[in-house]
Amino acid sequence: MRKKIIAGNWKMNKTPSEAAELAKLLKSKINAERADVVFCVPAIDIMPVGEIIKGSGIALGAQNMHFEESGAYTGETSVKMLKDAQVEYVILGHSERREYFGETSDDVNKKIKKALEHGIIPIMCCGETLAQRETGVTMEHVRIQVKAGFKGLVAEDAQKVVIAYEPIWAIGTGKTATSAQAQEVCAGIRKTIEELYGAETAQKIRIQYGGSVNGKNAAELFAMADIDGALVGGASLKEEFADIVSAAE
Ligand code: PGA
Repeated sequence: MRKKIIAGNWKMNKTPSEAAELAKLLKSKINAERADVVFCVPAIDIMPVGEIIKGSGIALGAQNMHFEESGAYTGETSVKMLKDAQVEYVILGHSERREYFGETSDDVNKKIKKALEHGIIPIMCCGETLAQRETGVTMEHVRIQVKAGFKGLVAEDAQKVVIAYEPIWAIGTGKTATSAQAQEVCAGIRKTIEELYGAETAQKIRIQYGGSVNGKNAAELFAMADIDGALVGGASLKEEFADIVSAAE
């Protein structure tokens, strides 16, 4: 049985003091025993939120990192900085980073390798646009993103990665994919991993769904055979996040 993983993607929300307040509130509502729970917070909020969730079973996550160890990359955050701040997970290749910051699958691949090298678990995002869904190329597109992201990874490392399937048309729109649509693509992703690494790795790897997940639709999504949790944006900033975690238990 794969343990479910529910990650909150706070995006560019919450100042350090607001983040501390939210972390306190959510910590008091969440039981992180039966599912893995991660708060992926803005870089500047990592330290204060880390202090608050210490010992609670909730893990700390980042939303991005650079693929180089250190150096002249103004404004970037390195893997060693994350590691030293007790970060355990990092979201990589979110569609907003691909779209607004020109991040390529090649960058994502380099970042995945760098994170794994330092023992941080990547949450690699993939997903199609509405135009791609309407032209029927969803699975081809997602397969290409997964293959490019995993290029050069051995099975032992590949199985540590969490994949987040997030259809772009469902992100922040209130328009969730149906559980059947989400299951179909997540099953296709698992099949892609099986082709690359074999059945054992495919059965171990965790695949989340993301895109307008809330307290009401989470349980139905989590009941699907290939959906192992969620990457949650908007609802991760509210008490409702605790209901999503409960739905995974
Ligand atoms: P949403 O965002 O839950 O607000 O749709 C999900 C995400 O972008 O990770």
